[in-house]
Amino acid sequence: MNSLQELYVDELKDLYDAENQIIKALPKMIDAASSEELQNALTEHLEVTREQAKRIEQIFQNMGEKLKAEKCKGMEGVIKEGAEILSEDMDENVKDAAIISAAQRVEHYEMAGYGTVRTWANLLGESEAEELLQETLDEEKEADEKLNQLAEQINVQAEAGADEEEEPEVRPSSQQRRPKKSSSRSRRAA
Ligand SMILES: [Fe+2]
Repeated sequence: MNSLQELYVDELKDLYDAENQIIKALPKMIDAASSEELQNALTEHLEVTREQAKRIEQIFQNMGEKLKAEKCKGMEGVIKEGAEILSEDMDENVKDAAIISAAQRVEHYEMAGYGTVRTWANLLGESEAEELLQETLDEEKEADEKLNQLAEQINVQAEAGADEEEEPEVRPSSQQRRPKKSSSRSRRAA
């Protein structure tokens, strides 16, 4: 690889594969999420992600280059780690907090990639591509910000979750104990 142009094209192919990996992974994250707000945010981002993949297709069309996805091993690792969490049995609020954490890793990985290719597009005089890439970068930042907002509430719920769960457990067990008490009372009475 000798030129920035080649590096730019290569990086775009990598991002294209990353987007497609995300399109496959998001439905599983949506299914695993309990918070309706989180489900909605991820569903919305799935739609946005499909458009982002199309933008890269458009950039290649404009360049007259053939678009062949190049395996993005970084995104594969990020998604794989997130998927491991989804299969674990945990409190629903804790799982939601984990999903947000995984989704934000995805967003930050993309933001790093898009920030770079946007800058290269500018240097290479690809102004239309630069605009398209900036649009995607803005959307990734927006998604990250939305996740930050959701995390504020969900992290607190996850932290409080352990206490909340103890309460309903106490009630039935005290109810179960009641007959024993009455029997001991009736024994005492007898
Ligand atoms: Fe994306």
